[in-house]
Amino acid sequence: MNGSLGVLGFSAGRGIRIVRGSGQYVWDSQDRRYLDFHCGNGAAFLGHSNPLIINRIKEQMEELMVCMPIFDTPVLERCLRALSRVLPNHLREVYFLNSGSESVELAMKLARKQKDRKRFVYFTGAFHGRTMGALSVTYNQRYKQGFEPFPWEQVSLPFNDFDQLRKIDDGVAGVIVEPVQGEGGLNVADSGFLRELENRCREVGAYLIVDEVQSGFGRTGRVWAHLVAGIEPDIMVAGKSIGGGFPVSLVAVSEEVAGRVEEGEHGSTYGGNPLALAAVEAAVDVLIKESVPEKSDVMGKRLWKRLLEVSSELQSVVRGVKGRGLMVGLDLRFSPTDVLKLTQLNGLLTLKAGGTVLRLLPPYLINEEDVEFSGDVITRSVSAARRSS
Ligand SMILES: Cc1ncc(COP(=O)(O)O)c(C=O)c1O
Repeated sequence: MNGSLGVLGFSAGRGIRIVRGSGQYVWDSQDRRYLDFHCGNGAAFLGHSNPLIINRIKEQMEELMVCMPIFDTPVLERCLRALSRVLPNHLREVYFLNSGSESVELAMKLARKQKDRKRFVYFTGAFHGRTMGALSVTYNQRYKQGFEPFPWEQVSLPFNDFDQLRKIDDGVAGVIVEPVQGEGGLNVADSGFLRELENRCREVGAYLIVDEVQSGFGRTGRVWAHLVAGIEPDIMVAGKSIGGGFPVSLVAVSEEVAGRVEEGEHGSTYGGNPLALAAVEAAVDVLIKESVPEKSDVMGKRLWKRLLEVSSELQSVVRGVKGRGLMVGLDLRFSPTDVLKLTQLNGLLTLKAGGTVLRLLPPYLINEEDVEFSGDVITRSVSAARRSS
Protein backbone atom coordinates (compact mmCIF):
# COMPACT_ATOMS: atom_id res chain seq x y z
CA MET A 1 0.00 0.00 0.00
CA ASN A 2 1.15 3.49 -0.84
CA GLY A 3 1.31 5.60 2.32
CA SER A 4 0.61 8.93 0.62
CA LEU A 5 -3.10 9.27 0.04
CA GLY A 6 -4.38 12.25 -1.93
CA VAL A 7 -7.62 14.18 -2.26
CA LEU A 8 -9.28 14.08 -5.70
CA GLY A 9 -8.17 17.12 -7.63
CA PHE A 10 -11.50 18.80 -8.34
CA SER A 11 -10.14 22.15 -7.15
CA ALA A 12 -6.71 23.72 -7.33
CA GLY A 13 -5.08 23.76 -3.87
CA ARG A 14 -4.37 27.14 -2.29
CA GLY A 15 -0.87 26.15 -1.22
CA ILE A 16 -1.07 27.07 2.48
CA ARG A 17 -1.68 24.94 5.55
CA ILE A 18 -4.36 26.42 7.79
CA VAL A 19 -4.02 25.30 11.39
CA ARG A 20 -6.52 27.35 13.41
CA GLY A 21 -9.19 30.00 13.24
CA SER A 22 -10.75 32.55 15.54
CA GLY A 23 -13.40 35.12 14.68
CA GLN A 24 -12.69 36.63 11.27
CA TYR A 25 -9.11 35.29 11.11
CA VAL A 26 -7.30 32.03 10.36
CA TRP A 27 -3.61 31.22 10.84
CA ASP A 28 -1.29 29.07 8.75
CA SER A 29 1.42 26.69 9.97
CA GLN A 30 3.97 29.58 9.85
CA ASP A 31 1.68 31.48 12.24
CA ARG A 32 0.78 33.98 9.54
CA ARG A 33 -2.65 35.52 10.09
CA TYR A 34 -5.20 35.87 7.28
CA LEU A 35 -8.38 37.90 7.26
CA ASP A 36 -10.84 35.27 6.08
CA PHE A 37 -13.22 36.58 3.41
CA HIS A 38 -13.41 33.06 1.96
CA CYS A 39 -14.99 31.60 5.08
CA GLY A 40 -15.26 28.02 3.78
CA ASN A 41 -17.39 29.24 0.85
CA GLY A 42 -19.33 31.39 3.27
CA ALA A 43 -20.05 28.78 5.94
CA ALA A 44 -18.07 30.46 8.73
CA PHE A 45 -20.24 33.58 8.59
CA LEU A 46 -20.68 33.57 12.38
CA GLY A 47 -16.91 33.55 12.84
CA HIS A 48 -14.38 30.79 13.37
CA SER A 49 -14.49 28.97 16.70
CA ASN A 50 -17.54 30.91 17.83
CA PRO A 51 -17.54 30.03 21.55
CA LEU A 52 -21.31 29.84 21.86
CA ILE A 53 -21.56 27.35 19.03
CA ILE A 54 -18.56 25.28 20.11
CA ASN A 55 -19.78 24.99 23.70
CA ARG A 56 -23.28 23.98 22.67
CA ILE A 57 -21.92 21.29 20.30
CA LYS A 58 -19.52 20.02 22.99
CA GLU A 59 -22.31 19.75 25.57
CA GLN A 60 -24.46 17.92 23.04
CA MET A 61 -21.65 15.55 22.12
CA GLU A 62 -21.35 14.49 25.73
CA GLU A 63 -25.10 14.15 26.20
CA LEU A 64 -26.25 12.39 23.01
CA MET A 65 -24.41 12.29 19.70
CA VAL A 66 -26.46 9.92 17.55
CA CYS A 67 -30.22 9.83 17.34
CA MET A 68 -32.45 10.25 14.30
CA PRO A 69 -35.16 12.87 14.44
CA ILE A 70 -37.87 10.17 14.31
CA PHE A 71 -37.29 10.16 18.08
CA ASP A 72 -38.16 13.22 20.09
CA THR A 73 -35.15 14.71 21.83
CA PRO A 74 -34.66 17.86 23.88
CA VAL A 75 -32.22 19.18 21.29
CA LEU A 76 -34.74 18.71 18.47
CA GLU A 77 -37.38 20.57 20.47
CA ARG A 78 -34.97 23.40 21.27
CA CYS A 79 -33.76 23.63 17.68
CA LEU A 80 -37.29 23.83 16.26
CA ARG A 81 -38.23 26.44 18.85
CA ALA A 82 -35.18 28.50 17.91
CA LEU A 83 -35.81 28.19 14.17
CA SER A 84 -39.45 29.20 14.51
CA ARG A 85 -38.13 32.60 15.65
CA VAL A 86 -36.28 33.22 12.42
CA LEU A 87 -38.03 31.27 9.65
CA PRO A 88 -40.67 33.08 7.59
CA ASN A 89 -44.05 32.54 9.32
CA HIS A 90 -45.73 30.81 6.41
CA LEU A 91 -43.08 28.05 6.31
CA ARG A 92 -44.49 25.57 8.78
CA GLU A 93 -42.38 22.41 8.56
CA VAL A 94 -38.69 21.70 8.10
CA TYR A 95 -36.45 18.77 7.23
CA PHE A 96 -32.76 18.72 8.11
CA LEU A 97 -30.04 17.47 5.78
CA ASN A 98 -26.26 17.80 5.61
CA SER A 99 -25.42 20.01 2.64
CA GLY A 100 -26.96 22.65 0.41
CA SER A 101 -27.10 20.30 -2.57
CA GLU A 102 -28.96 17.66 -0.60
CA SER A 103 -31.55 20.19 0.42
CA VAL A 104 -32.00 21.30 -3.18
CA GLU A 105 -32.52 17.64 -4.12
CA LEU A 106 -35.30 17.30 -1.56
CA ALA A 107 -36.91 20.60 -2.63
CA MET A 108 -36.99 19.30 -6.20
CA LYS A 109 -38.43 15.94 -5.14
CA LEU A 110 -41.18 17.74 -3.24
CA ALA A 111 -42.02 19.84 -6.30
CA ARG A 112 -41.82 16.87 -8.66
CA LYS A 113 -44.51 15.13 -6.63
CA GLN A 114 -47.03 17.25 -8.48
CA LYS A 115 -47.98 14.63 -11.05
CA ASP A 116 -47.80 15.47 -14.76
CA ARG A 117 -45.28 18.20 -14.06
CA LYS A 118 -41.86 17.09 -15.14
CA ARG A 119 -40.09 20.37 -15.81
CA PHE A 120 -37.95 22.71 -13.68
CA VAL A 121 -37.12 26.29 -14.46
CA TYR A 122 -33.87 27.92 -13.32
CA PHE A 123 -32.03 31.08 -14.28
CA THR A 124 -28.92 32.11 -16.14
CA GLY A 125 -26.04 32.35 -13.64
CA ALA A 126 -27.74 29.98 -11.17
CA PHE A 127 -25.75 27.69 -8.89
CA HIS A 128 -27.60 25.13 -6.79
CA GLY A 129 -25.02 22.40 -6.18
CA ARG A 130 -23.27 19.41 -7.70
CA THR A 131 -25.56 16.45 -7.03
CA MET A 132 -27.57 15.39 -10.07
CA GLY A 133 -30.83 17.25 -9.41
CA ALA A 134 -29.08 20.39 -8.16
CA LEU A 135 -26.61 20.21 -11.04
CA SER A 136 -29.45 19.95 -13.56
CA VAL A 137 -30.67 23.43 -12.51
CA THR A 138 -27.17 24.94 -12.28
CA TYR A 139 -26.32 27.18 -15.23
CA ASN A 140 -22.58 26.76 -15.76
CA GLN A 141 -22.18 24.28 -18.63
CA ARG A 142 -18.65 23.45 -17.51
CA TYR A 143 -20.04 21.80 -14.37
CA LYS A 144 -22.74 19.90 -16.29
CA GLN A 145 -20.83 18.69 -19.31
CA GLY A 146 -20.59 14.92 -19.53
CA PHE A 147 -23.17 14.22 -16.84
CA GLU A 148 -26.37 14.36 -18.89
CA PRO A 149 -29.03 13.11 -19.06
CA PHE A 150 -30.50 14.57 -15.88
CA PRO A 151 -33.43 13.00 -14.09
CA TRP A 152 -36.01 15.51 -15.34
CA GLU A 153 -36.49 18.29 -17.87
CA GLN A 154 -34.99 21.71 -17.18
CA VAL A 155 -35.28 25.07 -18.88
CA SER A 156 -33.17 28.14 -18.10
CA LEU A 157 -34.60 31.64 -18.38
CA PRO A 158 -32.65 34.91 -18.30
CA PHE A 159 -32.21 36.21 -14.74
CA ASN A 160 -34.13 39.43 -14.02
CA ASP A 161 -35.91 39.32 -17.38
CA PHE A 162 -39.60 39.97 -16.60
CA ASP A 163 -40.86 39.23 -20.12
CA GLN A 164 -39.51 35.70 -20.20
CA LEU A 165 -41.51 34.67 -17.12
CA ARG A 166 -44.46 33.99 -19.44
CA LYS A 167 -42.58 30.86 -20.51
CA ILE A 168 -43.34 29.27 -17.13
CA ASP A 169 -46.43 27.15 -17.85
CA ASP A 170 -48.54 24.48 -16.20
CA GLY A 171 -46.04 21.76 -17.09
CA VAL A 172 -43.56 23.27 -14.63
CA ALA A 173 -43.17 21.52 -11.27
CA GLY A 174 -40.94 24.13 -9.70
CA VAL A 175 -38.92 27.26 -10.32
CA ILE A 176 -35.72 27.66 -8.34
CA VAL A 177 -34.05 31.02 -7.75
CA GLU A 178 -31.30 32.60 -5.62
CA PRO A 179 -32.27 36.05 -4.30
CA VAL A 180 -28.59 36.97 -4.70
CA GLN A 181 -26.63 34.70 -7.01
CA GLY A 182 -23.34 33.72 -5.35
CA GLU A 183 -21.25 31.53 -7.58
CA GLY A 184 -22.85 33.00 -10.72
CA GLY A 185 -21.38 36.47 -10.11
CA LEU A 186 -23.12 38.25 -7.17
CA ASN A 187 -26.14 39.17 -9.27
CA VAL A 188 -28.98 40.58 -7.16
CA ALA A 189 -32.52 39.60 -8.10
CA ASP A 190 -34.70 42.63 -8.72
CA SER A 191 -37.50 42.72 -6.09
CA GLY A 192 -40.09 43.37 -8.78
CA PHE A 193 -38.77 40.39 -10.72
CA LEU A 194 -39.13 38.12 -7.68
CA ARG A 195 -42.71 39.35 -7.16
CA GLU A 196 -43.59 38.77 -10.81
CA LEU A 197 -42.03 35.34 -10.56
CA GLU A 198 -44.13 34.54 -7.50
CA ASN A 199 -47.29 35.71 -9.32
CA ARG A 200 -46.48 33.62 -12.37
CA CYS A 201 -45.81 30.53 -10.23
CA ARG A 202 -49.19 31.00 -8.49
CA GLU A 203 -50.96 31.47 -11.84
CA VAL A 204 -49.70 28.19 -13.28
CA GLY A 205 -49.44 26.19 -10.04
CA ALA A 206 -45.64 25.75 -10.07
CA TYR A 207 -43.82 25.73 -6.76
CA LEU A 208 -41.49 28.62 -6.07
CA ILE A 209 -38.25 27.36 -4.50
CA VAL A 210 -35.96 30.01 -3.03
CA ASP A 211 -32.34 28.94 -2.52
CA GLU A 212 -30.90 30.82 0.47
CA VAL A 213 -27.93 28.48 0.95
CA GLN A 214 -25.44 31.31 0.43
CA SER A 215 -27.55 34.46 0.82
CA GLY A 216 -29.46 33.38 3.93
CA PHE A 217 -29.05 33.72 7.69
CA GLY A 218 -28.26 37.41 7.82
CA ARG A 219 -25.54 37.69 5.24
CA THR A 220 -27.33 40.24 3.05
CA GLY A 221 -28.61 42.41 5.91
CA ARG A 222 -31.91 40.53 6.41
CA VAL A 223 -32.33 37.12 7.97
CA TRP A 224 -33.37 35.86 4.52
CA ALA A 225 -32.46 37.79 1.38
CA HIS A 226 -35.83 37.21 -0.33
CA LEU A 227 -37.66 39.10 2.45
CA VAL A 228 -36.71 42.38 0.75
CA ALA A 229 -39.11 41.48 -2.05
CA GLY A 230 -41.92 40.45 0.31
CA ILE A 231 -42.46 37.14 -1.48
CA GLU A 232 -43.60 33.89 0.13
CA PRO A 233 -41.87 30.91 -1.49
CA ASP A 234 -43.49 27.48 -1.22
CA ILE A 235 -40.12 25.97 -0.38
CA MET A 236 -36.92 27.53 0.97
CA VAL A 237 -33.55 25.82 1.25
CA ALA A 238 -30.77 26.99 3.54
CA GLY A 239 -27.32 25.72 4.53
CA LYS A 240 -23.80 27.09 5.10
CA SER A 241 -24.17 29.67 7.92
CA ILE A 242 -27.17 28.07 9.65
CA GLY A 243 -24.94 25.76 11.70
CA GLY A 244 -22.19 28.29 12.37
CA GLY A 245 -19.90 26.21 10.17
CA PHE A 246 -21.15 22.78 11.26
CA PRO A 247 -22.35 20.79 8.20
CA VAL A 248 -26.12 21.10 8.22
CA SER A 249 -28.83 22.28 5.83
CA LEU A 250 -32.59 22.48 5.85
CA VAL A 251 -35.65 22.59 3.67
CA ALA A 252 -38.55 24.65 5.01
CA VAL A 253 -41.97 24.29 3.37
CA SER A 254 -45.45 25.77 3.40
CA GLU A 255 -48.38 23.89 4.94
CA GLU A 256 -49.60 22.95 1.48
CA VAL A 257 -46.29 21.33 0.50
CA ALA A 258 -46.01 19.64 3.91
CA GLY A 259 -49.52 18.21 3.45
CA ARG A 260 -48.40 16.22 0.40
CA VAL A 261 -45.52 14.43 2.12
CA GLU A 262 -45.86 10.67 2.46
CA GLU A 263 -44.03 8.27 4.73
CA GLY A 264 -40.92 6.70 3.21
CA GLU A 265 -40.44 9.23 0.44
CA HIS A 266 -37.21 10.65 1.84
CA GLY A 267 -34.73 10.10 4.62
CA SER A 268 -31.13 10.66 5.71
CA THR A 269 -28.94 8.88 8.26
CA TYR A 270 -27.18 12.02 9.45
CA GLY A 271 -29.83 14.58 8.53
CA GLY A 272 -30.93 16.22 11.77
CA ASN A 273 -28.32 14.50 13.93
CA PRO A 274 -28.10 15.94 17.47
CA LEU A 275 -24.80 17.76 16.86
CA ALA A 276 -26.20 19.52 13.80
CA LEU A 277 -29.37 20.43 15.70
CA ALA A 278 -27.31 21.84 18.58
CA ALA A 279 -25.26 23.84 16.09
CA VAL A 280 -28.40 25.32 14.49
CA GLU A 281 -29.91 26.09 17.90
CA ALA A 282 -26.73 27.94 18.92
CA ALA A 283 -26.39 29.68 15.55
CA VAL A 284 -29.92 31.09 15.83
CA ASP A 285 -29.05 32.29 19.33
CA VAL A 286 -26.00 34.10 17.97
CA LEU A 287 -28.01 35.53 15.06
CA ILE A 288 -30.57 37.07 17.40
CA LYS A 289 -28.39 38.06 20.38
CA GLU A 290 -25.69 39.59 18.21
CA SER A 291 -28.12 41.31 15.80
CA VAL A 292 -26.23 39.64 12.97
CA PRO A 293 -28.40 40.87 10.05
CA GLU A 294 -28.21 44.47 11.29
CA LYS A 295 -24.43 44.26 11.71
CA SER A 296 -24.11 42.75 8.22
CA ASP A 297 -26.09 45.61 6.85
CA VAL A 298 -23.86 48.21 8.52
CA MET A 299 -20.55 46.53 7.71
CA GLY A 300 -21.80 45.59 4.23
CA LYS A 301 -22.36 49.27 3.51
CA ARG A 302 -18.89 50.12 4.85
CA LEU A 303 -17.30 47.46 2.70
CA TRP A 304 -19.32 48.57 -0.34
CA LYS A 305 -18.09 52.15 0.16
CA ARG A 306 -14.48 50.99 0.42
CA LEU A 307 -14.87 48.85 -2.70
CA LEU A 308 -16.33 51.81 -4.55
CA GLU A 309 -13.15 53.73 -3.71
CA VAL A 310 -11.06 50.85 -5.05
CA SER A 311 -13.24 50.71 -8.11
CA SER A 312 -12.88 54.41 -8.91
CA GLU A 313 -9.13 54.31 -8.26
CA LEU A 314 -8.74 51.36 -10.65
CA GLN A 315 -11.42 52.29 -13.17
CA SER A 316 -9.48 50.97 -16.13
CA VAL A 317 -9.51 47.43 -14.74
CA VAL A 318 -12.60 47.36 -12.51
CA ARG A 319 -16.17 47.51 -13.84
CA GLY A 320 -17.82 48.12 -10.48
CA VAL A 321 -19.08 46.71 -7.18
CA LYS A 322 -21.69 43.93 -6.98
CA GLY A 323 -23.75 42.09 -4.41
CA ARG A 324 -25.58 42.96 -1.20
CA GLY A 325 -24.65 43.14 2.49
CA LEU A 326 -21.67 40.94 3.26
CA MET A 327 -21.97 39.10 -0.03
CA VAL A 328 -20.12 41.56 -2.21
CA GLY A 329 -17.31 41.81 -4.69
CA LEU A 330 -15.50 43.66 -7.42
CA ASP A 331 -16.36 43.04 -11.03
CA LEU A 332 -13.02 43.08 -12.84
CA ARG A 333 -12.28 43.44 -16.50
CA PHE A 334 -10.22 40.23 -16.35
CA SER A 335 -10.28 36.86 -14.57
CA PRO A 336 -9.68 37.19 -10.81
CA THR A 337 -7.62 33.98 -10.55
CA ASP A 338 -4.28 35.79 -10.06
CA VAL A 339 -5.87 38.36 -7.76
CA LEU A 340 -6.96 35.58 -5.37
CA LYS A 341 -3.35 34.39 -5.14
CA LEU A 342 -2.09 37.90 -4.50
CA THR A 343 -4.68 38.77 -1.82
CA GLN A 344 -3.70 35.53 -0.08
CA LEU A 345 -0.02 36.47 -0.22
CA ASN A 346 -1.01 39.78 1.35
CA GLY A 347 -3.01 38.17 4.17
CA LEU A 348 -6.56 38.18 2.80
CA LEU A 349 -8.47 35.07 1.68
CA THR A 350 -10.99 35.67 -1.11
CA LEU A 351 -12.82 33.68 -3.76
CA LYS A 352 -14.22 34.23 -7.20
CA ALA A 353 -17.66 34.29 -8.75
CA GLY A 354 -18.71 34.07 -12.37
CA GLY A 355 -15.91 34.73 -14.84
CA THR A 356 -14.72 38.12 -13.57
CA VAL A 357 -15.89 38.78 -10.01
CA LEU A 358 -13.61 38.86 -6.98
CA ARG A 359 -16.06 37.62 -4.31
CA LEU A 360 -15.89 38.50 -0.61
CA LEU A 361 -17.83 36.48 1.95
CA PRO A 362 -16.63 37.89 5.30
CA PRO A 363 -17.89 36.86 8.72
CA TYR A 364 -20.43 39.29 10.22
CA LEU A 365 -17.97 40.43 12.90
CA ILE A 366 -15.51 42.28 10.69
CA ASN A 367 -14.59 45.76 11.91
CA GLU A 368 -13.54 49.08 10.34
CA GLU A 369 -9.88 48.08 10.44
CA ASP A 370 -10.64 44.87 8.52
CA VAL A 371 -12.54 46.83 5.90
CA GLU A 372 -9.62 49.24 5.44
CA PHE A 373 -7.11 46.39 5.35
CA SER A 374 -9.11 44.45 2.76
CA GLY A 375 -9.52 47.57 0.58
CA ASP A 376 -5.76 48.20 0.64
CA VAL A 377 -4.90 44.57 -0.12
CA ILE A 378 -7.42 44.38 -2.96
CA THR A 379 -6.14 47.62 -4.50
CA ARG A 380 -2.55 46.37 -4.43
CA SER A 381 -3.46 42.87 -5.66
CA VAL A 382 -5.68 43.97 -8.53
CA SER A 383 -3.05 46.47 -9.72
CA ALA A 384 -0.25 43.90 -9.51
CA ALA A 385 -2.28 41.18 -11.25
CA ARG A 386 -3.12 43.54 -14.07
CA ARG A 387 0.48 44.66 -14.48
CA SER A 388 1.76 41.10 -14.73
CA SER A 389 -0.94 39.85 -17.14
C1 LIG B 1 -26.89 29.04 -3.65
C2 LIG B 1 -26.28 27.70 -3.40
N1 LIG B 1 -27.05 26.61 -3.42
C3 LIG B 1 -26.56 25.39 -3.19
C4 LIG B 1 -25.22 25.20 -2.90
C5 LIG B 1 -24.68 23.82 -2.64
O1 LIG B 1 -24.34 23.69 -1.32
P1 LIG B 1 -23.30 22.57 -0.83
O2 LIG B 1 -21.98 22.92 -1.40
O3 LIG B 1 -23.35 22.67 0.67
O4 LIG B 1 -23.83 21.27 -1.33
C6 LIG B 1 -24.37 26.31 -2.85
C7 LIG B 1 -22.94 26.16 -2.56
O5 LIG B 1 -22.13 27.02 -2.76
C8 LIG B 1 -24.91 27.60 -3.11
O6 LIG B 1 -24.15 28.70 -3.09
